[in-house]
Amino acid sequence: MAALYGRHFLTLRDFTAEEITDFLDLAAQLKAEKKQGVPHDHLRGRNVALIFEKTSTRTRCSFEVAAHDLGMGTTYLDPSGSQIGKKESIKDTARVLGRMYDGIEYRGYGQEIVETLAAHAGVPVWNGLTNEYHPTQMLADMLTVREHFGRLAGLRLTYFGDARYNMGNSYMVVCAKLGLHFTACAPKKYFPDPELVETCRAWARESGGSITLTEDVSAAAESDVICTDVWVSMGEPDEVWQERIADLTPYRVTKDVMAAAGPHAIFLHCLPSFHDLETKIGREMGERFGITEMEVTDEVFESEQSLVFDEAENRMHTIKAVMLATLARPETYRRG
Ligand code: CP
Ligand code: NVA
Repeated sequence: MAALYGRHFLTLRDFTAEEITDFLDLAAQLKAEKKQGVPHDHLRGRNVALIFEKTSTRTRCSFEVAAHDLGMGTTYLDPSGSQIGKKESIKDTARVLGRMYDGIEYRGYGQEIVETLAAHAGVPVWNGLTNEYHPTQMLADMLTVREHFGRLAGLRLTYFGDARYNMGNSYMVVCAKLGLHFTACAPKKYFPDPELVETCRAWARESGGSITLTEDVSAAAESDVICTDVWVSMGEPDEVWQERIADLTPYRVTKDVMAAAGPHAIFLHCLPSFHDLETKIGREMGERFGITEMEVTDEVFESEQSLVFDEAENRMHTIKAVMLATLARPETYRRG
């Protein structure tokens, strides 16, 4: 685990299967400690900055609770509450925050922004979501899958929806690294970038996994994990809704999709999700397009097979592992 100390956490592309497994093992340890009431404030007296150029519920709360449990102070910089990008460059921001904080989380737009922060901060930088990647989400998802099935390598994970964006890309990377069989099920124009597909196929050859891209919804057959994401991501213009709804409705996760996968399969979603009309945007789209649910039906979302709230809880335990492993030497927190 020494290999994780002092590292940035920008995309799982940068980590080996062993290192990703180390994060998962540490998250499982920290989760058990939290449940047993065992204190783990190994980072007492440290401070972290949390930059959010896009909104968040899970990621922000996970960083804040995890930092608190580890004994750290936090500063939350909201999408409008700092000079970042408007009056001060990312490079200058990195050099200022790096003088005050022991680590910096960034959620926002292009991956190059978080890379620039990392290049100039002088302290570990953690990606809390960019357009391209959502690596902390992947640790939570893999922990959830491992808790349920007791293993990861060899499992079949099928992702429905826009596979070109942060969630689709990130699932493909983590599956390729850890030896899962990844399928992206979407219309061709939503397939991931061919260069990333090739890179992941090379990793999959090493790990025993595989990468399949298909337009055929029957791809769900015999999957162990079915997952999806919102059809329009944060930062995308409102104008794309109509086209996305038209293109992706055949790729909605329904009870037929889950039935094809089989009763053993689980459903995951990073959340937030449009599975009913209980949100402002859900109601607006419902009125505009005459629909009551989008990427997943309410029936699947609320079913026994849906582990979305275990997954959401695991955001906190895995984010805690990322901060601890990158900010402290393993001998300070390792048990046994
Ligand atoms: N899954 C996820 O990142 O949720 P938030 O946008 O609420 O942080
Ligand atoms: N693809 C979504 C993920 C939200 C956690 C977005 O970027 O908005």
